[in-house]
Amino acid sequence: MKALVFHGPGQPSWEDVPDPTIQDPTDAIVRVDAVTICGTDLHILGGDVPAVTDGRILGHEAVGTVVEIGPGVRNLAAGDRVLVSCVSACGRCRFCRDGRYGQCVNGGGWILGHLIDGTQAELVRVPFADNSTHRIPSGVSDEQMLMLADILPTSYEVGVLNGCVRPADVVVIIGAGPIGLAAVLGAKLLSPSHIVVVDLVDTRLDAARAFGADIVVNSGRDDVVAIVRDLTDGLGADVTMEAVGIPQTFEQAVELVRPCGHVANLGVHGAPATLHLEDIWIKDLTITTGLVDTYSTPTLIGLVQSGRLDTSPMITHRFTLDQFEEAYDVFGRAGGDGCAEGAAHPEVALTVRYPAFEDRRLRGFRSRGRPLCRLRHCRRGAAADSPVPCGGVCAGQ
Ligand SMILES: NC(=O)c1ccc[n+]([C@@H]2O[C@H](COP(=O)([O-])OP(=O)(O)OC[C@H]3O[C@@H](n4cnc5c(N)ncnc54)[C@H](O)[C@@H]3O)[C@@H](O)[C@H]2O)c1
Ligand SMILES: [Zn+2]
Ligand SMILES: [Zn+2]
Repeated sequence: MKALVFHGPGQPSWEDVPDPTIQDPTDAIVRVDAVTICGTDLHILGGDVPAVTDGRILGHEAVGTVVEIGPGVRNLAAGDRVLVSCVSACGRCRFCRDGRYGQCVNGGGWILGHLIDGTQAELVRVPFADNSTHRIPSGVSDEQMLMLADILPTSYEVGVLNGCVRPADVVVIIGAGPIGLAAVLGAKLLSPSHIVVVDLVDTRLDAARAFGADIVVNSGRDDVVAIVRDLTDGLGADVTMEAVGIPQTFEQAVELVRPCGHVANLGVHGAPATLHLEDIWIKDLTITTGLVDTYSTPTLIGLVQSGRLDTSPMITHRFTLDQFEEAYDVFGRAGGDGCAEGAAHPEVALTVRYPAFEDRRLRGFRSRGRPLCRLRHCRRGAAADSPVPCGGVCAGQ
């Protein structure tokens, strides 16, 4: 198969690699139907995440179709349409039992495209498949769902919920990339009085306004501190969120919050930031950091399904998988010097379409030229037209 392989900082390559195989009984192999790029992938390519080593397939977000399952998988079957969560979960360790899947100590957590091969590929091995995927409800598009693999749960859990956003709050979000924009969507669910978004790129700020920001500030031009003070009678914001991942913006988030307020750090940082305790020890602040756990994914799926949350405007560009390197280029430049077309690029989705499966309940289905049975434990060939999906080859095993 083809995959986007990391060969050191600044060196992604779309190349041939071996197909993934089932390694543990709880694994599933998922054919990637839609995949996207995260700001964290940019941090990896910038050398900020040294745990990612040469040869690693990147990516931790996908929507796809299950093509094979290990004998220990109970809740999935070949042919199921699933969201592959950015966080895998053993489901049994003390953190998983507490819904803190990001901290899983049994080989889960954020491993895809980090410690094991990821989703920016034609096929991906998903460990602990029962706990690390979500079925896609009918009527919800792959693209809507794709935004729930990482971006929406991250912004909602690590930004909105950790930041304890409450009705009538003034919320400042620094960084208007996909994570910052998703934080706007998430914060709006709790009816803040004002959402202020800060970025250096005007096209990103335009996008933030379209997503529901009340005030946008280009911090390269305007005095954010003065604007937030004006808005809050000199007190500072109730909640600030850092959605960039550099020391300056973390320090700015701390500077902009009011006494007794919340600072929620979302950014992945590659360098130390200074915590000015000499100024803030007296302010009763709560500062939170976090890796997304994805415990909120079912809630977010419900919101999308009911039409309360629309993630589709986050996708501005569509590529085929073989255009991955170009997609990285567009995504990387969107938050930097703008892009050639001058449009906002809050998100880049890469979608690849395969022919739809026909009535797979009756016929089984084909994958990679090999007919596969839809039965859970079948990994053998199936007679494509048989009403018993495996044609009796594996029935009962
Ligand atoms: N905590 C988690 O679990 C988690 C999960 C996913 C992503 N992240 C992190 O969230 C952060 C944001 O992700 P993203 O995908 O939106 O990234 P991105 O790179 O697409 O967007 C970052 C935005 O910050 C803006 N920016 C850069 N410097 C700035 C400055 N000095 N002041 C104001 N704005 C500035 C850029 O213009 C850009 O719009 C990244 O650090 C990413 O690694 C964290
Ligand atoms: Zn991510
Ligand atoms: Zn666990």
